Amino acid sequence: MAEPLGGRGALSHRPVLLRETIELLAAERGGLFVDCTVGLGGHSEAILQASPDAQVLGIDRDEEALGLAKERLAQYGSRFRFVHADFRELTRVLATAKVRQVRGVLADLGVSSLQLDSLGRGFSFRHEAPLDMRMDRSGGETAAELLGRLSEVEIARIIFEYGEERRSRRIARWIVERRERGEPIQTTHDLADLVARAVGPDKKRRIHPATRTFQALRIAVNGELENLDRFLVQAVDHLEQAGRLAVISFHSLEDRIVKRTLLKLSGRCQCPPRLPVCICGVTKQISILTRRAIVPGEEEIEENPRSRSAKLRGASKV
Ligand SMILES: C[S@@+](CC[C@H](N)C(=O)[O-])C[C@H]1O[C@@H](n2cnc3c(N)ncnc32)[C@H](O)[C@@H]1O
Repeated sequence: MAEPLGGRGALSHRPVLLRETIELLAAERGGLFVDCTVGLGGHSEAILQASPDAQVLGIDRDEEALGLAKERLAQYGSRFRFVHADFRELTRVLATAKVRQVRGVLADLGVSSLQLDSLGRGFSFRHEAPLDMRMDRSGGETAAELLGRLSEVEIARIIFEYGEERRSRRIARWIVERRERGEPIQTTHDLADLVARAVGPDKKRRIHPATRTFQALRIAVNGELENLDRFLVQAVDHLEQAGRLAVISFHSLEDRIVKRTLLKLSGRCQCPPRLPVCICGVTKQISILTRRAIVPGEEEIEENPRSRSAKLRGASKV
């Protein structure tokens, strides 16, 4: 198990947009909520505190996080249950738990502070570690393996698309040249140093030059954008009438998928504007509760800079 950093691990983790999320879920009504991204259990705990009748079924694909959440939420007894799974298997998880409908579903997407701050998991260039980046370490390919396998074009595409990094082609070329010299990228510092040398300092945004490349690789390793739309469809399917969905995203590509899928589920016609009649056959399953995404205020961003790119969207089942 990777060791969390002293003082920045489990206890100092601040759930993002906490009050706004609990309000959106209307958790004070009690009932069964699914927290699809338990992490360290901050949002789950707030749901449990909102009503003595609230229960949470927590899902996470990171066993280390689930272990910590279990300890934190032990005081709530059988009101908190958890499952190690990918939330994209929500229907299977609920069927196994013999649950058909729930009062609310929450997904706080992306990476947790525990993962970013853990020594040895390879999410951050701040600590020298094997370049792993898997949220679920029970299987799958590590970031180092991915960089050892993919072509230069594929590496460049990932860094450009998921990291919005202008110098993606140059970085990919340097990675592949290094690999061809028989020195594949193996650690966080191998990659961070290579990117820093390939692109030079990011004077404009004053961030480490490897920030975008690390984000891009993490998204690719964990397939973070794959089937997000299908997960949202499953989540809405399992909501009872007036049940609530809340989704927090941290990346514009992720937010775009959430926004578009919610619009479609709200009955917005998907036909090209030139068609004289609607043929897409969408039906209204939800009402959108956030015409614009809810974002953190200045105070929250100051206290928790990692919240700065968060966007919360919510809906109610009709
Ligand atoms: C931003 S953190 C959640 C923090 C949490 N809300 C809290 O208050 O501590 C995101 C969590 O979602 C998990 N996660 C990301 N994608 C997942 C997926 N597809 N299935 C299950 N868990 C996932 C990550 O492992 C991580 O622990």
